[in-house]
Amino acid sequence: MVLTGGGDCPGLNAVIRGIVKRASQEQDWEVVGCIESFNGVLREPTEVEILDEKRVEGLQIQGGTILGTTNKGGPFAWPVKEADGTWTTADRSDEMLRKLQYMGIDAVINIGGDGSQRISLGLYNKGLNIVGVPKTIDNDLSMTDYTFGFQTAVQICTDAIDKLVTTAASHNRVFVIEVMGRDAGWIALHSAIAGGADVCLIPEIPYDINRVIDKINSRYNKRRGNCIIVIAEGAMPKGGNVTGTETGEVGYQHIKLGGVSEQLAADLKAAGVEHDIRCTILGHLQRGGTPIAFDRVLATEFGVRAMEFVLEGRFGQMVAYHHPDIIGVPLEEAVRQPHLINPDERLVHTAKGVGIEMGG
Ligand code: F6P
Repeated sequence: MVLTGGGDCPGLNAVIRGIVKRASQEQDWEVVGCIESFNGVLREPTEVEILDEKRVEGLQIQGGTILGTTNKGGPFAWPVKEADGTWTTADRSDEMLRKLQYMGIDAVINIGGDGSQRISLGLYNKGLNIVGVPKTIDNDLSMTDYTFGFQTAVQICTDAIDKLVTTAASHNRVFVIEVMGRDAGWIALHSAIAGGADVCLIPEIPYDINRVIDKINSRYNKRRGNCIIVIAEGAMPKGGNVTGTETGEVGYQHIKLGGVSEQLAADLKAAGVEHDIRCTILGHLQRGGTPIAFDRVLATEFGVRAMEFVLEGRFGQMVAYHHPDIIGVPLEEAVRQPHLINPDERLVHTAKGVGIEMGG
């Protein structure tokens, strides 16, 4: 059985296709897809779909996931409405494992980010034959060089910066471009370098607004000039906090990040910056549409190898990209700590080397 969990991401369908195509080369293996992560097994009636070669034809191009996904709840924290209207959670993992056995499922491939792989680990520890596949545009999973979907998101952001550069120059404006990434600045850092930004602010380096102002000033000759600031949604000023809101959505366990670009613009204005400032929040555009070739290839490699791990009985592992190989890492290690930017790392050095102000 294959399923996709967490936020969607370009390349999910390419992984599903890789799994199904590789499985079809074996006798005795049939692949079923579970709808909306594990929810399809937990719901009554069960929501699963048989996946054959015909169903996955051409899927490497298609964004999103044909199986649907969710980043709420899960078998260990299923949302339950109490009589008084409040919500609690129930652990339905044992019930789900019994149901999988009843359905005759021999193995599960769980395509998802850190939250999903924590669920994989919990289920593996309870005896499920499970293999993980690392997915997320944030690239924040350690033990793999890249997650698929990340490079597509970086390309989308870079294309946006390329467009905003020309309008910023025409109007002598400061542009603040907010990109996703949650607690990791990978999308911001890569797209700032690729797009030739002037400032890049990431969660791993809380920023000093005075450094941002100095950079803006250096980019103007009296009123002529422009400045491109790329800011990760999880960035924060020195001594400050992230900008976000509680969604109030049932089962959603995160703060919804967003709005730090507008906060920075307001702070710059309050500090006396007189140039026009405009903000662009790229939001879910970064997760939509067709995966670029790199992600199609990586996702296909992950899919094929994940299926081979099943055939080889290598459970409790996550497939991972360690250039030039696709290897397996224990799920426990895969989720131990997030993959964040070390301020001393090569790419930060490169950004500074081309004059990008990192804010701290
Ligand atoms: O983890 C992927 C991601 O796109 C983050 O970059 C972002 O903060 C979050 O998901 C948005 O989640 P949602 O789709 O629930 O708004």
